[in-house]
Amino acid sequence: MPLTHTGDLFAKALKGKYALGAFNVNNMELLQAIVEACEEEKAPVILQISKGARQYANPVYLKKLIEAAISVTNIPIAVHLDHGDSFELCKQCIDEGFTSVMIDGSHLPFAKNVEVCRQVVQYAHKHNCVVEGELGQLVGAQHDDGEEGGGYSKGGVYTHPDEAVDFVKQTGVDSLAVAIGNSHGAYKFKGEQHLNLERLKAIKKALMDAGLGDYPLVLHGASSVPRDITREINQFGGKLGEDTAGVPEADIEVARRTGCTKVNIDTDLRLAMTAAIRKVLAENPKEFDPRKYLAPARQKVKDLVRHKVRNVLCCSGHAFD
Ligand code: G3H
Ligand code: 13P
Ligand code: ZN
Repeated sequence: MPLTHTGDLFAKALKGKYALGAFNVNNMELLQAIVEACEEEKAPVILQISKGARQYANPVYLKKLIEAAISVTNIPIAVHLDHGDSFELCKQCIDEGFTSVMIDGSHLPFAKNVEVCRQVVQYAHKHNCVVEGELGQLVGAQHDDGEEGGGYSKGGVYTHPDEAVDFVKQTGVDSLAVAIGNSHGAYKFKGEQHLNLERLKAIKKALMDAGLGDYPLVLHGASSVPRDITREINQFGGKLGEDTAGVPEADIEVARRTGCTKVNIDTDLRLAMTAAIRKVLAENPKEFDPRKYLAPARQKVKDLVRHKVRNVLCCSGHAFD
């Protein structure tokens, strides 16, 4: 089966009211785990590749690994550039056949963000590729400096609904990543903080009211940082802080129902892989065959992906809609 276009996956997900998992791929075991879990769940999937993944694994290896995955499975698979940081990188990925790219200009002033997104959209749309933009800032995004302090700052700025409308209209991006208190990594919140789901609803409504229809939103930083996994890492020699925190799965559920069509998960895969490897090595200190720790690591990632697509994103069973 060839790659499936990201645009087709989005259209079906919007219609079916489920979310697509966008899982980061850095090596063969992660890829196998994601694809095997989605195949068993009959779930469509977006494999996403960051600039760092390309540097780590070499774009050619990643491309060939994904080709291998496509040839051994029949589920729909799209390939997406995660956090593209320049027109040149986006162009490279489009030329390599990615079905979507993200151009992340969220750290730039609004007009500059618009400018670079328009440039990518223009090229992408000529080459059968769709584009994700981002507005607002995720960094340390547990508070909204945009409203408190006015203007942009390093503290994180929620996406403003009216600006989201202007941004989508001016750039022509096909989906929009929003900042609603989400952030990357394993230390997302302090205390009782969580996503601002009211802001998410307001953004979705503003886009709808502006005539942009059921416009697809993207949730970055959607790992839930499971306690049992962080505990296991520490039980077997890790030193993660006591204050690890992720997005509660109940929040993701609301985000899905509110219109987050693409949900990005990377950290949870890293944690699952690390926990399994630490456990094998701690319990078998004489072991040195990588297959002996990478196989359980792959299995743990697979179990996690299966749980996400079945119970959180609700895209199980939708591969052949
Ligand atoms: O959002 C970032 C993703 O988790 C990718 O991370 O740039 O370390 O590959 P990375
Ligand atoms: P997490 O760090 O929460 O997994 O987020 C991943 C992400 O947003 C990739 O773009
Ligand atoms: Zn991200």
